[in-house]
Amino acid sequence: MMHSLVLCLAALLHFGHATTYTSDWAIRIRGDMESVNRVAEKYGFTNMGQIGELRTYYMFHHQQTANRSTVYNKDLTTRVTKETEVEWLQQQVVKERAKRSYVTADMKTRGLPAAHTKPVHTQTLHFNDPVWSSLWYFHCIEKSKGCRSHMNIAAAWERGYTGKGVVVSVLDDGIEKEHPDLKPNYDPVASYDMNGRDPDPSPHYSSSADNYHGTRCAGIVAAAANNSQCTVGVSFNARIGGVRMLDGDVTDITEAQSLSFSPHYIDVYLSSWGPGDDGATLEGPGPLALRTLQNAVKNGRNGRGSIYVWASGNGGRNGDHCSCDGYSSSIYTIAISSTTWHGSHPDYLEQCPSIMATAFTGGDTEGLVRDLELCGQTKCRFLTYYM
Ligand SMILES: *[C@@H]1O[C@H](CO)[C@@H](O)[C@H](O)[C@H]1NC(C)=O
Ligand SMILES: *[C@@H]1O[C@H](CO)[C@@H](O)[C@H](O)[C@H]1NC(C)=O
Repeated sequence: MMHSLVLCLAALLHFGHATTYTSDWAIRIRGDMESVNRVAEKYGFTNMGQIGELRTYYMFHHQQTANRSTVYNKDLTTRVTKETEVEWLQQQVVKERAKRSYVTADMKTRGLPAAHTKPVHTQTLHFNDPVWSSLWYFHCIEKSKGCRSHMNIAAAWERGYTGKGVVVSVLDDGIEKEHPDLKPNYDPVASYDMNGRDPDPSPHYSSSADNYHGTRCAGIVAAAANNSQCTVGVSFNARIGGVRMLDGDVTDITEAQSLSFSPHYIDVYLSSWGPGDDGATLEGPGPLALRTLQNAVKNGRNGRGSIYVWASGNGGRNGDHCSCDGYSSSIYTIAISSTTWHGSHPDYLEQCPSIMATAFTGGDTEGLVRDLELCGQTKCRFLTYYM
């Protein structure tokens, strides 16, 4: 506890980069749509509508303000604050968001004694997906050597827990909805493009933007099983969608809208990103994202509560600590950590008390988790990654 406090204070003392202001404001206004529009018009804003599920909160866009600037439009903010109906407003700033990508663990530096292995499950299940025989974290591969996987996933499947009836959406840089291993489970109703403001969440590839992270995450969750393609998702019968929201300037509004997209349709939101894992950033959800999480865990899924699964962070090598990340350490999210196939800490792992569960992750070459990109090696279709 003391240790994490010291780490967080150290992060607080590190002064970050200059703030970038956008031309969008979040504004809380009392009254009906007419008075909201009256305030918008009076100051030259376009009312872009309510922010997610947050009643009385609106997104206002101001054409006369530069869409990226290091200067705060203080004059406009001060004038609007004086309107009696206006209860709160904030010019939106760009948040630095890092994707939590696959890292190969250095087994030498943080290795713990290997977990003992014993056969857990005598499996007869067979899928025809090309990498099935190397999915050691799902089923027992070499019974003579003992089974590596203690997650016992195949046994859960046999009891009917395959993701059937569950809708998952990956909040990230997009999802390849035509990918042959995702297409059977792809759900357009659980998908949106917050960056382009249209319903198509397809990633935009360019030589400078390798936006395959969301697609890879989606495959780990819900790649179709027994379709002769690539790999098998842990919940291969789930419906899978994606919200493209990391491929542009991320603001508190972007996060609030993404975290509350289709809240009565989507069951689980998966976020594998957050403030930089550089060991020097202390940041959590802004006022809109925080309100959204609070509201959704009570009211989402028609009152059963939305579920937010969060990657705990990959900053271990930088001395980062997930207590300094207000998303993974939030009481409203389920933070997931990782272990190598030997049962040891990967050296990039971040430790903190809010971790709820641990799953297998990239270890050495032998122990890789086979996602959609890695199974490209076995000739199933690769991501349409722009080279
Ligand atoms: C910024 O504004 C310009 C001109 O209005 C527009 O062409 C451009 O696409 C905007 N950039 C972003 C990132 O929204
Ligand atoms: C997978 O598909 C094959 C046909 O290609 C079938 O024989 C097999 O039973 C299927 N496996 C499962 C577990 O459904």
